[in-house]
Amino acid sequence: MTQSITIRRPDDWHLHLRDGAMLQAVLPETARHFARAIIMPNLVPPVVTAKDAAAYQSRILAALPEGADFTPLMMLYLTEDTDPADVAAAHASGLVTGVKLYPAGATTNSASGVTDFDKVRPVLEKMAEIGMPLCMHGEVTDSDIDIFDREAVFIDRVLDPIRRATPGLRVVMEHITTKNGVDYAKSQGEDLGATITTHHLIINRNHILVGGIKPHYYCLPVAKRESHRLALLEAATSGDATFFLGTDSAPHTDENKESACGCAGVFSASNTMSCLAEVFESQGALDKLEGFASLHGPAFYRLPANEKTITLRKGDPVPYPASIPTEDGPVTLFDPGFPLHWQVD
Ligand code: DOR
Ligand code: ZN
Repeated sequence: MTQSITIRRPDDWHLHLRDGAMLQAVLPETARHFARAIIMPNLVPPVVTAKDAAAYQSRILAALPEGADFTPLMMLYLTEDTDPADVAAAHASGLVTGVKLYPAGATTNSASGVTDFDKVRPVLEKMAEIGMPLCMHGEVTDSDIDIFDREAVFIDRVLDPIRRATPGLRVVMEHITTKNGVDYAKSQGEDLGATITTHHLIINRNHILVGGIKPHYYCLPVAKRESHRLALLEAATSGDATFFLGTDSAPHTDENKESACGCAGVFSASNTMSCLAEVFESQGALDKLEGFASLHGPAFYRLPANEKTITLRKGDPVPYPASIPTEDGPVTLFDPGFPLHWQVD
């Protein structure tokens, strides 16, 4: 039986770090294991211009613990007023890695997102020309579409038409949650990648709703039925380079989660690698963990894989805190619902 596994340092291709006291509290949790992360720009106000991204990058670097080896990869938040020239210059200078598309109203702090996709066409065309990745929150927001169908409908009504209209546009389907997402991603070429979160590999919608409502399992896109989780699990552990890790670790204080109108987001930065080792081992696929967490993402983003390694070791159940303290109050850590035996050295 494998008792330890050494892999190149992983990267997180979808992460929320927030700002201020929350940033200070959660950044070390990611920087401990991950070498790089794509930093989501849905702050209030959002990170819209190159100038905003440079300022946010400085705040992140200033919040890093002494001696940490971590690179934040900055993103711009796409609005209907985004200037293609600003985006292109930010990419050319190396400041910004990609652009994030939130359909307006789809999720936390998405009010400045896109309603009319025709209005962002010039930006998308410029991005296709320069090979800059577009990360999509893939859910429609139409009130007549059931929340469990929003990803599948987005693929048909938004994603596929945009890709057909913009040849060469490099797209990441973020945090896919359905077999529809897996099947679409698999059927496309190398211009399309898809991230999968740790928690969507572990929970289905029953975890949120059966036996009482569990706000700490609520995120967007919401977890779907078990058959979809199994499709995600198969994709993540298959070795297919289309699929890579984006934790979507999204901290909210317990006060904001455990509320009559609780925020969407699962905070998983601290125990993600332990959870993934457990999941991959259960599938007999520990040998595929490095690809998913450390190799496929850099290949899509055309960046070198990390040179340094981490070692995960298996032993007695690993203790991990139920929550981490922040100046704004505790933030509950993702509970996979089973013991974790793997720990990063
Ligand atoms: O659950 C989520 N939380 N999904 C998102 O798309 C945004 C995120 C957040 O920022 O809290
Ligand atoms: Zn997110």
